[in-house]
Amino acid sequence: MAPGNMEKAFVIKFLVLIVSFGAAWGACTIDPSYIADWYSMEVGRDVFTPVTPNKWGDLMCLEKYEHPIEDNFLKGRNTTMLMKDAGDNCLYCVDVLWRTPNILQYKRSSCYTSNSGFKNMCKGIAKLPTQDTLVTLFKQTYETVNCISTWEGVYQFTYEVDWGGGGICDNPDNLLKACQDPGSPYVDNQVFLITYAKCPTVQTSKSETIRYQCMGSWFAVIGDTGYTFAAIENTVEKDTREKYKCMMTLKNQKQADNSIRWAMSRFAECGSLKSIYDSPNRLVLRRAPPQTQYITPQCNLPRNASGAWFTQGIQFKSKVTINDTHIHYFTQRNEFEYEDTFLSCQQTLGTRYLMTKYIVGKCEVDFVCYDILPRHHGIVRYRVGKPSRLTVDELADPQFMTKKFQEACSWQSFTFNRDDTEWKYEVLIMDPPSPVYCPIGGRYNFKQEANGWLEKYATRIRGVTEKPRNQISCRLVVSEMKSCSVDRSKIEIDAEYCESVDYRGRPVGEYDEPDNILTCVGYWLEDMKSYLITYDEEDAVSKFRCWVYERTSWTELQLSRSQTARCRREQMSKDYLTEGTGLHMILEEAERLFDDCPQRFDPGLNPYLKPQVIYVLSGSVRLSALVVSALNTVLVLLVTHLVIRH
Ligand SMILES: *[C@@H]1O[C@H](CO)[C@@H](O)[C@H](O)[C@H]1NC(C)=O
Ligand SMILES: *[C@@H]1O[C@H](CO)[C@@H](O)[C@H](O)[C@H]1NC(C)=O
Ligand SMILES: *[C@@H]1O[C@H](CO)[C@@H](O)[C@H](O)[C@H]1NC(C)=O
Repeated sequence: MAPGNMEKAFVIKFLVLIVSFGAAWGACTIDPSYIADWYSMEVGRDVFTPVTPNKWGDLMCLEKYEHPIEDNFLKGRNTTMLMKDAGDNCLYCVDVLWRTPNILQYKRSSCYTSNSGFKNMCKGIAKLPTQDTLVTLFKQTYETVNCISTWEGVYQFTYEVDWGGGGICDNPDNLLKACQDPGSPYVDNQVFLITYAKCPTVQTSKSETIRYQCMGSWFAVIGDTGYTFAAIENTVEKDTREKYKCMMTLKNQKQADNSIRWAMSRFAECGSLKSIYDSPNRLVLRRAPPQTQYITPQCNLPRNASGAWFTQGIQFKSKVTINDTHIHYFTQRNEFEYEDTFLSCQQTLGTRYLMTKYIVGKCEVDFVCYDILPRHHGIVRYRVGKPSRLTVDELADPQFMTKKFQEACSWQSFTFNRDDTEWKYEVLIMDPPSPVYCPIGGRYNFKQEANGWLEKYATRIRGVTEKPRNQISCRLVVSEMKSCSVDRSKIEIDAEYCESVDYRGRPVGEYDEPDNILTCVGYWLEDMKSYLITYDEEDAVSKFRCWVYERTSWTELQLSRSQTARCRREQMSKDYLTEGTGLHMILEEAERLFDDCPQRFDPGLNPYLKPQVIYVLSGSVRLSALVVSALNTVLVLLVTHLVIRH
């Protein structure tokens, strides 16, 4: 091989190396992301380290290894350098971890007097040192970073410090406010406020409000646990070691009470943070409502809407509490996280209510309009308009509330998209439910069409007692769904009902227990579709269910059951495969002589009326014989009368 070719081959190999490790053995200039003046606290002393392209304090770079970049979004990189101190003639290995534009962490080895090779001496090339062995450097010329990665929102907190004795200070005025106000003249998104309030019994507590600048956050592992770290700077503090603080938290802490624990250092270092329970300053944060005047109510909600309700959103269920002035949604997002949303009545006209909406822990206050229909049964139906914010300009107008009402409560604001007229009222269901007469009644045999067998009604043994039918042979088994005169607010469903009769001619099935008992809690007609809400305590999927029901002939009803308490607008009475549905039932009238179970049907045309029932067929057999004979008599008399007149 010619020497030229060899050179080429070497260059290619070198390139391959760079590509395959994403790293390089570069010429020794210090990484540009480190160039600045840095402050650190090392063994209790203040250390100021100026870094230039050629020098790290007094150290000069001899050799450098650039670690592969793990995340392309980061503006810096990790390096390991072999450095020489001209003063003491020592060689040092220096590992530098770039954390944020304002934070570096580094480790310097002890002094080597002779050079035994970069790779031999500097173990950091193979594996960077762990967080607990690093010194944290704080940039003296702050570069702006957004606080969102650290925190956002309003929190009340308790604090406890490790020095000076004391205890936990839990004052309602301990507040942390990290709010981003788009119209504000301040650099809101780079700063936040901590207000410490004094606790009389805690000596170390203080009364102080500090404005901190965020220096960025990073992720690091201690032991086996990955923590989120953040650094903050108190810009007015003169004492440098008190000026900077290091903080640490665990993402997804899943505390039962929705609180979030943070550890905070006392001085400008991160080494003292061992865990969220073991650190010089421990904060426990709880989400707090935003601090504004628009939380104070100015009007009253409909009196009979007060109480405890249940609602099913597209994603989550909520418990809703309404009193004269407020609506409160409590939404469980998962086992450990919940959200508290409050709405406070501000102005009202007819069925429309202008409300301020705020979420505990969030900064924003929105104005939204609620259009609330009068309550019927245990049901309140409402719809929500487009939310809007109050701008600084609007606030200057003394009539701003009236203007806001006109904007947020205009009928157009309820249709989010002008062309999309496909909306449906949201539904609040009284919880615990109060039963109403079911809009469908009678005795039926049914057929089921289901999206998966789990959706179907099937025989099951309720409670602990076994069905007595076990001892009785049954020759005729049918499906049965009924709502009879005995309790018209219940629908009983029996997937396998024994229709055989015993020696007295009574159905053996009298001893049958229904598989499911649904309690009707409300129904109405909307957009020419009848909706029914039922409650079944033993329903493992959803205690409340929404149904679309329809009478398709004199003797046949069709029902579509939704998977939750919410019926989608698209749901039809024949649906079982469309999203959100799962079961379609066809009911065929099957009243027997002795059942006393008249067919009834109410499409929910006017749910405000007192129970109004259309009896399709008269049920009471004994009575009807009397009536028929009476009618006969009348008819005979009438005919006779007419005949005589002519
Ligand atoms: C530096 O190394 C740490 C620890 O291995 C890693 O988490 C971080 O992402 C690295 N930083 C960059 C900029 O690659
Ligand atoms: C209504 O509820 C709100 C929020 O839960 C509460 O602050 C307020 O005191 C209640 N008002 C009354 C009259 O109970
Ligand atoms: C609730 O009150 C409204 C009017 O304030 C009335 O129209 C409605 O019928 C009431 N509903 C019930 C169930 O009392």
